[in-house]
Amino acid sequence: MFDLLIKGGTLPDGTVSDIAITGDRIVATGRVEGEARETIDATGDLVSPPFVDPHFHMDATLSYGLPRVNASGTLLEGISLWGELRDIATVDEMIERALTYCDWAASMGLLAIRTHVDTTPDHLRGVEAMLEVRRRVAGYIDLQLVAFPQDGLYRTKTGRDNVLRALDMGVDVVGGIPHFERTMEEGAESMRDLCRIAAERGLRIDVHCDETDDPMSRHVETLAREVTRHGLGGRAAGSHLTSMHSMDNYYVSKLLPLIAESGMNAIPNPLINITLQGRHDTYPKRRGLTRVKEMQAQGITVGWGQDCVLDPWYSLGTADMLDVAFMGLHVAQMTHPQEMSRCFRMVTEDNARIMGLEGYGLKKGDTASLVILDAGNPTEALRLRAERLAVVSKGKVVAHRSRNDARLALSGRPARVRRRQE
Ligand code: FE2
Repeated sequence: MFDLLIKGGTLPDGTVSDIAITGDRIVATGRVEGEARETIDATGDLVSPPFVDPHFHMDATLSYGLPRVNASGTLLEGISLWGELRDIATVDEMIERALTYCDWAASMGLLAIRTHVDTTPDHLRGVEAMLEVRRRVAGYIDLQLVAFPQDGLYRTKTGRDNVLRALDMGVDVVGGIPHFERTMEEGAESMRDLCRIAAERGLRIDVHCDETDDPMSRHVETLAREVTRHGLGGRAAGSHLTSMHSMDNYYVSKLLPLIAESGMNAIPNPLINITLQGRHDTYPKRRGLTRVKEMQAQGITVGWGQDCVLDPWYSLGTADMLDVAFMGLHVAQMTHPQEMSRCFRMVTEDNARIMGLEGYGLKKGDTASLVILDAGNPTEALRLRAERLAVVSKGKVVAHRSRNDARLALSGRPARVRRRQE
């Protein structure tokens, strides 16, 4: 007797397969016969591994308007507002907001999140709060924490010490922000320093790198070099990389092979980069998204990250990785059918690889986590930002909703049929 049997779903590659679950594992796929305590009929629906977000700020989420809204809409005003908020927010408030966000995430089928945690204040209340959140949601969301020196590794007296303190407290990943250090040289030194720390401690590293419109901000070059030097490979990631949007094309033709050689990953955050970058431009106004297709053509793994939801940097957001991929698809002009499918893979498989998730997928033996979408295939899921009909995490149904079958008065036909290409 299986615990859960999902019948007749269509997998992202188009295969139709049942999925049988016992405990927290997938125990059979293909055509499965047998009894189950609970059966879900997914005929005609898309059954996907869960969504994964490799870049988020959970210590700041759901704080929009605190202590006031970001009037200029710039990254720098966002950092300054957060600088006030992080010293007045209590541990309990941060936990409460983060848990609410995790509820939203689970309902959207987003079951693994890498979140940067600001380590700048000596009180490290954000770290304390996020460690507690990681513990509380462990049964249904895999949370990875990054020690993130928001105000720079060297720009504050205790910046470097606090990153080490956070890692000692149990934070998983080394973070950095080289373009925010005082000088280009100090930014480059922070890359050498942080990659050494990651290598010595056997940790992953994920750096906010070159999140600027300055074409001369070239820390990704140093990051790639240090990743190669220490053999960090796919355990390293550069987040944002927006300066690459504005760089000279000839220089980029040298840079991309260096990044590919290092084996590091790239994490653009389209919702945020399209709103924060280019704010100092008149017209033409730069989009500020890094060179996604060009990196993928070099074999570099690129994932889409959410970055922010309702915080000092971003006034919208719903924890829906389909929104993230939808924006990325538009801004990076990934409209070919293969590119649209790739965008879906970016917020599932590619992001899972970036986070190093074990047992991720829908094969026998994988962790029994998945999402059932009211769509026929990945492209349709993107087009509709399809309803999550059910979300299963580690063998348990953690969210479900009934199908949107509202009928139009005009035709009497189900709205779903009009929207879906069945
Ligand atoms: Fe970020």
